[in-house]
Amino acid sequence: MVQVSIAGSTGSVGTQALDVISANSDQFEVVALLANSNVDLLVEQANQFRPKFIGIFDEKYVPQLREGLGYSPEIVTGSEASAGIAELGQVVLNAVVGFAGLPVTLSTLQSGKRLALANKESLVAAGELVSKVRAKSGSEIIPVDSEHSAIHQALRSGNHSGDEVSRLILTASGGPFRLWDWADLESVTLEDALAHPTWSMGQKISVDSSTLMNKGLEVIEAQQLFAVDYDRIDVVVHPQSLVHSMVEFRDGSAIAQISGPDMRLPIGYALSYPDRLTYSFAALDWGQVRTLQFEPPDHQKFPSLHLAYQVGKRGGAAPTWLNAANEIAVRSFIEHKIRWIEIFETVRASLEQYQDTVLDSIEDVLEIDFTARRVTEQLVRERGNN
Ligand SMILES: NC(=O)c1ccc[n+]([C@@H]2O[C@H](COP(=O)([O-])OP(=O)(O)OC[C@H]3O[C@@H](n4cnc5c(N)ncnc54)[C@H](OP(=O)(O)O)[C@@H]3O)[C@@H](O)[C@H]2O)c1
Repeated sequence: MVQVSIAGSTGSVGTQALDVISANSDQFEVVALLANSNVDLLVEQANQFRPKFIGIFDEKYVPQLREGLGYSPEIVTGSEASAGIAELGQVVLNAVVGFAGLPVTLSTLQSGKRLALANKESLVAAGELVSKVRAKSGSEIIPVDSEHSAIHQALRSGNHSGDEVSRLILTASGGPFRLWDWADLESVTLEDALAHPTWSMGQKISVDSSTLMNKGLEVIEAQQLFAVDYDRIDVVVHPQSLVHSMVEFRDGSAIAQISGPDMRLPIGYALSYPDRLTYSFAALDWGQVRTLQFEPPDHQKFPSLHLAYQVGKRGGAAPTWLNAANEIAVRSFIEHKIRWIEIFETVRASLEQYQDTVLDSIEDVLEIDFTARRVTEQLVRERGNN
């Protein structure tokens, strides 16, 4: 039995992880759950899986939580909940969205446990710090993002020396606006941006996918996870979302990971690593696969991807700033304060105010994140649409 803690259990990845665990209940036991404020779903999950520990970020929900629970687990709130969840279980799945997931990443790696990481923002915002903590404890990170899981699986298929790998190639679906005309992007609605063609995901990652910033964040995530230079990480648009990414070797051979677009496969892979799940969620009916299409990304229509490369290469605290500015811009779009086409402009203008800074500690990361958020919020106010 593998004991699993799930941070962000009420979200898209969190609920799919519980699906994986239900279907493989002889292999996994849930020992801790953590959410932000969705107390009704958290109560339902807790009563079903009976974890010993429940974290809820917002303490005002504790009475409602206690009232709904049919047993008496430990309940912890606020920042102590993020630290507490890492104390239990052998594997911690971090499926919290955004910068709020950083404490779970750090506390899990400090505890020496295996981290199944969906929360890409913690690697983007604090990659070097995360690497240091990981190196000290020797903890493993198994990526949950389908692209990074694909690369992890492709690299695992042989004993590759570092210079055998020539490129990592991340695939991108292209998002809902791949075929839209430039002029129509002026009038994108929230509903349009959330209508992802192949994946059903939380709001923030869906909007990030529509701007291709998600792929930009994933490029930075890949650099951090696999220590490959930015010049050797490419992105190719693959609308069918069946080839989840590939590793190309110096002789031109490439190994790809291919399966249906179902997050339960990479979640299950990260939870059961180094084994594989016995239950299949995403096997393809190969006789029905007619087309595997690949094309270069349209950088003019989607400038966020190029911006993320620039920021990643700049290093220091630039990715921390990018992540914070993007979170504010995306939230502002979701709250109808800016238009979709203004997301990129807001992030770009915010980054203009960044001055090169070295990150030595978590306090430095928090300070840059705070400043970038204030700067970006001011830019949103100045746009005057609110
Ligand atoms: N969805 C996907 O298919 C997918 C694929 C690849 C990678 N990812 C990555 O996985 C992460 C989660 O994405 P998602 O789509 O599952 O997001 P989501 O559906 O919005 O869920 C986010 C989860 O985080 C929790 N949360 C938010 N703030 C918190 C805080 N301060 N403390 C504790 N919990 C907090 C939420 O709790 P409440 O429900 O209580 O608010 C919810 O459980 C993101 O980093 C995303 O980029 C997602």
